[in-house]
Amino acid sequence: MKERVENLKKEIKEKIEKVISLKELNDLKVEYLGKKGPINELSSMMKELPVDEKKEFGRVLNELKAEVGTLFDTAREALEEKELNEKLEREKIDITLPSSKIHVGSIHPITKVIEEIEDLFVSMGYDVVEGPEIEEDLYNFEKLNLPKGHPARDAQDSFYITEEMLLRTQTSPVQARTMDANLEKTPIRVICPGKVYRRDDDDATHSHQFTQIEGLVVGENISLSHLKGTLEEVAKKLFGEDREVRFRPSFFPFTEPSLEVDVSCFKCGGSGCSICKGTGWIEILGSGMVHPNVLRGCGYDPEKYTGFAFGMGPERIAMLKYGIHDIRNFYINDLRFLEDFNRVEGSEE
Ligand code: DAH
Repeated sequence: MKERVENLKKEIKEKIEKVISLKELNDLKVEYLGKKGPINELSSMMKELPVDEKKEFGRVLNELKAEVGTLFDTAREALEEKELNEKLEREKIDITLPSSKIHVGSIHPITKVIEEIEDLFVSMGYDVVEGPEIEEDLYNFEKLNLPKGHPARDAQDSFYITEEMLLRTQTSPVQARTMDANLEKTPIRVICPGKVYRRDDDDATHSHQFTQIEGLVVGENISLSHLKGTLEEVAKKLFGEDREVRFRPSFFPFTEPSLEVDVSCFKCGGSGCSICKGTGWIEILGSGMVHPNVLRGCGYDPEKYTGFAFGMGPERIAMLKYGIHDIRNFYINDLRFLEDFNRVEGSEE
């Protein structure tokens, strides 16, 4: 019997030495230590032995089990370590290899200008609100004091979808919507950036789609001097602190009086050049005091409230600021232009 035990031990030892994976080791363990394995078979033979031999055989058997158990444990640890090392070797990353270049997109110049203007107004306590691009005639024109048949409608050749719906031609409808939506009729200070559409033929200075930023301030005792102070500040922040600002009378149906705002030419400083067309001044936006009809139409009492509004074109501002001569550059998505602009901005590399 002892001999059998010794042989078994030898046999197991030899087999374990040949094992090369944890799976094989496990199978082997089941084969020898499992219910139907030879060690269990030996245990079940014990009851057939005479009493005086039982004790000794039990001891030998226990010893065998312990030894075999240790053999398996040691082999398992060695294999686990081997497999881990192999895995680490397989997954090793060579951090000295050169990386593949990642192309990162850049923010569109118009988006950049809009964000710059938004930041400026937010710092002055304005909210940024948006409105729909598919707009009702009611908001795009009628509530802005442009009834059907008004000649000023012709200046904004429109894409109509139905008799009453169109692609908005300006962001001014958002001022009417903001006043309408304010049910308590409390003071307002907002800017409204967004896309607008006009039935223009595209050329260097016209695009059928472009962007505008509308501004609206409504409150008690809001006066022309608030408008002037605000827009002077904006012009200087956008075009340089030493810019001078000039206000010229103009006409918009939704403001009375209406003013056009010019800055002194940042190229020639006012002496006259090609950018300012020899005048020394560059027009940057339209503005005015909100017409009483507009206030009234949107539920604000013009006896109690006054307000000012303005509208500017980010394309025009970007073209002036960065010396871009063709508005179509913003919309044809030529990467050479977009990347070049980015480089000019100094935001890359
Ligand atoms: N909506 C005008 C346009 O598209 C721009 C404008 C001018 C907006 C004067 C205003 C304003 O709010 O007061 O030409």
